[in-house]
Parts: sequence; C-alpha cells; structure tokens
Amino acid sequence: MLKLTARNWQLTTDLMPNTKHPGFSTRAIHVGQEPDAETGAVTVPIYATSTYVQQEIGKHKGYEYARVSNPTRTRLEQNLASLEGGVASRVFASGMAAINAICTMFKTGDHVVCGHNLYGGTPRLFNQVLAGYGIEFTYVDTTDVKNVERALRKQTRMVFVETPTNPLMALSDLRAISQVCRRKKVDLVVDNTFMSPYFQQPIALGADMVVHSTTKFLNGHSDGLGGVVVCTRPEQVEQLGFVQKAAGAILSPFECWLVLRGVKTLAVRMEQHDRNGRRVAAFLAGHKKVKRVFYPGLPDHPQYELAQHQMSGFGAMISFETGSLANANKMLRKVRVCSLGESLGGVETLTSHPATMTHAALGTKGRKEIGITDGMVRISVGIENVEDIIADLDQALAAI
Ligand SMILES: Cc1ncc(COP(=O)(O)O)c(C=O)c1O
Repeated sequence: MLKLTARNWQLTTDLMPNTKHPGFSTRAIHVGQEPDAETGAVTVPIYATSTYVQQEIGKHKGYEYARVSNPTRTRLEQNLASLEGGVASRVFASGMAAINAICTMFKTGDHVVCGHNLYGGTPRLFNQVLAGYGIEFTYVDTTDVKNVERALRKQTRMVFVETPTNPLMALSDLRAISQVCRRKKVDLVVDNTFMSPYFQQPIALGADMVVHSTTKFLNGHSDGLGGVVVCTRPEQVEQLGFVQKAAGAILSPFECWLVLRGVKTLAVRMEQHDRNGRRVAAFLAGHKKVKRVFYPGLPDHPQYELAQHQMSGFGAMISFETGSLANANKMLRKVRVCSLGESLGGVETLTSHPATMTHAALGTKGRKEIGITDGMVRISVGIENVEDIIADLDQALAAI
C-alpha cells in the first residue's frame, strides 16, 4: 500500500520502503496505481457505478454518489497531484471544463489578467461566456513580466498563462510572474498542457494552480478528453471538489482509467517526443520553403535562454510559416504520416492550421494582433520513426 504524506509526491510505500523521494516515472507508475486491494490486479479497476451501498444512514465507505467521487477518479487525482507536486488535484470532463471550474470561484467585478496568446478556446470561454457574468479579462503579452504587473488591479484574482503559448511558442518567465503575483496576493494559474509535468514544473516555480488538458500528452493516445486542476492549498481542493459535485462536469471512470494508463509511459513518450521535436525543428529551419520556425529549442528563439532553465526539454510542439493560406493548404493536403487534425500530444504526429482551427474563434483581427498568420502550420511531433516524419513533411512541402 502507498502512504501519502501531506505533500503527496513525498510518498512512501511498502514497495519502496527506503525511497522517500521516488523519481518521476516511479510516481507515474505507482502513485494512485497501487494493486487492487481485493484481487491484486496490477491495474486500477474501472469503477463503473453511479452509486454505492451504505451500511446505515450516514455510514458508508467514503463514496456516496459518482458525481461526487469515484475510486478510479480518486486514484487519477492522486497520481496527477504527485506528478505536478501539488497537494491534490481535481479532474474534469475536458481541459475547458477544468479552466471553467477555476473561474467559478470568481464573482461579478473580479478581474483576471491573461496571456494574449492562449489556446483559442480559453479566450472564447472568457469573452463569450464568463464576461457575461461580469468577470473582467485583460489580455497582455506575458513574455514581459512588466506587462503583467501593470495590468494588475485591486480586483484582480488570477493571472492565467500558457507557456509555451499555442501556437506561437512564446515563453513566460514563471518565477518572475509568480513573484509579482505573490507580492500582490493574486493567484498564478499555469496551463502546462504543452510541456506536461515531465518537462516543466510550474508549482516548483511558484504557481498556485496548474491546469492541463489531459486530452493531450498526459493521456497521450488521442482516445479521450479530460482536464485537471492541480492545487497547492486545501481550500482550492475543497472549492473545486464542490464544483465537481455542484456543476457535475466530472471525468468518467473509463476516461480516468485511460489517463492512468497513459501517464505510466509519460516519461518515455516525452523523451521520444522531444528527440523527434528537435530533429523536425532543425529540418524545418533548414528547408527553403519554410519562412520561419517557432520552437523554443532553436538557438534563434528569442527566449532560448529561458527555455533552457525553465524547462527540462523542448517538447514536441512546433509552428512554422508557409507564407500563405494557399501554401498551407497545398502542403496540408499532402501529409500522410503527419495527418491533418485538430489536437496534439498523442503518439501520432498531427498537423493543424491554427487560423481556421484552434484559433478561428479569435477572428482575423484578433489573430493579426498577436501574430497568427493564415500561412502558419502547427505540428505536434509524435513518436514515430523521425525519418518517416521528416520524409512526409518533405514531400508535402514540395507541393508549395
Ligand atoms: C493549451 C490548451 N489548453 C486547454 C485546451 C482545452 O482542452 P480540451 O480540448 O481538453 O477541452 C487545449 C485544447 O487544445 C489546449 O491546447
């Protein structure tokens, strides 16, 4: 059995009696993933149940109704909290449901400062849903901490950043922003979807909460949606647990199980994503049809220095400029291994077109303001043989 201490990443276990600080992969495979007490099954059971029998009124085994809690979900929440170094986590039906859950803690008149280049669905939620409830959002370029500081108001409750951003791959200095937030008593929330906890640990850098679309690298197999909020304080855990129960956008036991299965190989997948990512970025940077490459692992990236100390790898996400919508379409019609599709973080390489897909909701003006062009293509480099990925991109680029 695993015994979790107050910070549950410092677990001790009968399997590892002398290991007070198990490594990342050990935690990915064992925290919350201990063998089933009843049967010894090495994988966590999928508790497909809507309710639980009670022994008498008010007496039960800690589970009453599946919207409130489910043992498969509990195990995943322990596991992800451990990987991000939080006290606990709460999982939701999607990444957007997780971000929305955080915002339900706000009231009319509250203010949020966020990065001006986020996954397009996030400003869509902020501007087209939550602004209607009187929550105010200010978008700034968070690559400069001074912009964040200037945007803070008395009513500011949260600074929300993605780093690297989607799809421009710009970085924000998490330690510097967290220091400003701490001084002003504002929570820093980081969307860590692109890096995964394997390459970036925002809580260690001062973040108050971390959010993920588990749909991406944490699951890693493109077979389920999900979202998580990892917390650093007990009151956050309590509030988000209440939101799960009150609003009900919880992750199903089957999808919790898919993520539990996926995270077991997170470290080896991320290593391969990173190796392939570096090779593909170098190939694109040297290709005559490619006008510009956005990848924090290239020495000409404006924040290459920051990338080297804030992240322990550069990852699999790359954007590049083909010059026009027509060029982007010519090449995207030709890709085979690098299929055209609207997600990222799976074992298979996926290409996408931010202007018409992930960032369509920003509108032409919104995209122009932050530098997303019609010729930009984003690639989530998978873990196939890198020579095959490069050969596919090469033949597709020949169509331009
Ligand atoms: C960085 C980032 N955050 C959040 C989301 C939303 O996640 P989901 O699609 O699971 O709702 C996405 C989706 O692409 C994303 O890329």
